[in-house]
Amino acid sequence: MNSYFISFEGPDGSGKSTVLEQVVAQITPLLKTQYLVTREPGGSIIAEKIRQLILDPTNEKMGAKTEALLYAAARSQHMSETVIPALKAGKVIFSDRFVDSSLAYQGAGRDLGIDAVKQINNFATSGIEPNLTLFLDVKPEVGLARIERARAGQEDRLEQEKLAFHQKVYEGYLEINRKHPERIAIVDGDRPGNRVVEDCVNIIKKRIPKDLLKD
Ligand code: TYD
Repeated sequence: MNSYFISFEGPDGSGKSTVLEQVVAQITPLLKTQYLVTREPGGSIIAEKIRQLILDPTNEKMGAKTEALLYAAARSQHMSETVIPALKAGKVIFSDRFVDSSLAYQGAGRDLGIDAVKQINNFATSGIEPNLTLFLDVKPEVGLARIERARAGQEDRLEQEKLAFHQKVYEGYLEINRKHPERIAIVDGDRPGNRVVEDCVNIIKKRIPKDLLKD
């Protein structure tokens, strides 16, 4: 059965989760098939427990490799319990983050290397990739300023990292985007939310197989 897997990526403060919610609200009424909205790290009970461990600001001593392996472990569980069954059932999947986040944050941000992080993630996902990735392009300084305004002292462990880290993450995303122009669509996220949503909806409508849409 035909399925379609869409991931949403972007730096912290790119407005990704809000955009995803509105895109889902506009796209799903057009679908003939069922759909799944999910997120990483998370998307299953075990993976959500790993998420808490990773993002807990008191886990100051967590090593970069441990962090990368925990994200990959959460992803493996998310795949087997949630994503693969949905793909088999022919659903359209909307995932808030996927492997590109690990490549950018752990590979580039934590200096583990994009290729090394890709390897552990290939093991975790058995090489399954999204059909389409929407990258919300927001410069790290803009994203961080948004987070500071919104969360004020309640930032998670990754958000608490300094601008230099987020700059490396952003550069990592740009490198990944250059390598996969056929899969990744870049959307300017530094505009009013409704414009960002409109662009995402139009890209999905253009790219999704027509047999998944109502006549
Ligand atoms: P998320 O809940 O998407 O946060 P936000 O809504 O603020 O974007 O992700 C939590 C954090 O985890 C975020 O800082 C990005 C980071 N992350 C990684 O470092 N590696 C990964 O593989 C994933 C999925 C997320």
